[in-house]
Amino acid sequence: MIEPLSRALFHTLAASETVKRLASRYGMREGRFARRFIAGERVDDALAAARALAERGIGCTLNHLGEAVTEAPAARAAADAYARVVQDAGEAGLACQISVKLTQLGLGVDPAACEANLRRVLDAAGDGFVRIDMEQSRWVDPTLDVFERVWQDGHRNVGVVLQSYLYRTADDLARVNALGARVRLCKGAYREPASVAHPLKADVNASFVRLMQSLLEDGVDPAFATHDPDMIATTRDHARGLGLPPERFEFQMLYGVRRDLQARLVDQGHRVRVYVPFGSEWFPYFMRRLGERPANVLFVLRSLFHEGRG
Ligand code: FDA
Repeated sequence: MIEPLSRALFHTLAASETVKRLASRYGMREGRFARRFIAGERVDDALAAARALAERGIGCTLNHLGEAVTEAPAARAAADAYARVVQDAGEAGLACQISVKLTQLGLGVDPAACEANLRRVLDAAGDGFVRIDMEQSRWVDPTLDVFERVWQDGHRNVGVVLQSYLYRTADDLARVNALGARVRLCKGAYREPASVAHPLKADVNASFVRLMQSLLEDGVDPAFATHDPDMIATTRDHARGLGLPPERFEFQMLYGVRRDLQARLVDQGHRVRVYVPFGSEWFPYFMRRLGERPANVLFVLRSLFHEGRG
């Protein structure tokens, strides 16, 4: 969770076509600022990142960037693109998971078509695992409904993300745990009103700890997606108290964030997986990362300054 002011500012900038045009023109060339958080525009860039992570003993989740698709053909094309990503990763000998956003597969256009698109991705993935990212709060119910329908249909290579900033998440976690499905727990990255989400970081963290405990106790192969050293330490302590060995759960982080901590956790025997986003639709994802942390903005400003001098 972040300070409301900077989150609000970056969500406003993210909606600006001018900022988007400027960033898209300058941000993604080799060595440019957006490359810190996004592997590149091509699948080969993402596979190279996945290979480098594998060499460091770190797993990978590939995310072909895109969201809020408004037309059915674009949603179908996104599903096709995912099927190709899965195939390319397999041919490269990389056992990557993938993450999809259901609004990218057409949830906002036609939920039935979105579900069909998701099934195509799941079929293409075969034994590979597909994680459904969680988006703004208005998408939580439709996302969980689609997820539950494909699960009830027998798809077992699929899991979801739940966000600790939402008041409702304890109930959602109980629902997913009852299915026996896999959850990635995170704090939540979107701008939400106080009517649905904890406005204070301390409450988001306290909620994360409660959900983490119930996920470790009742969940299946839980994943904890955070760079927060306190959340990581508390998770490790709770797992130790339950007698759960490190291979029973996973820490997940974002590409380009806390590489030192990723390496340290691997050295200590933990499973670590990094979320590797790639593709041309990188702007909203990038702006969410900036909104999360003032240091990320300084990093971009410094890069622009050096590039300008270069
Ligand atoms: P938070 O932002 O609360 O910061 C706590 C501390 O963590 C900081 O004080 C610092 O020590 C450290 N830290 C955080 N960010 C850092 C950075 N950039 N550099 C250095 N240190 C940093 N969200 C969502 O809504 N839906 C989703 O599906 C997902 N999926 C997802 C997958 C994965 C693998 C990850 C890691 C995250 C997500 N998220 C997400 C994003 C998530 O909800 C959240 O916005 C970010 O992870 C930031 O929250 P943190 O818990 O990392 O720390």
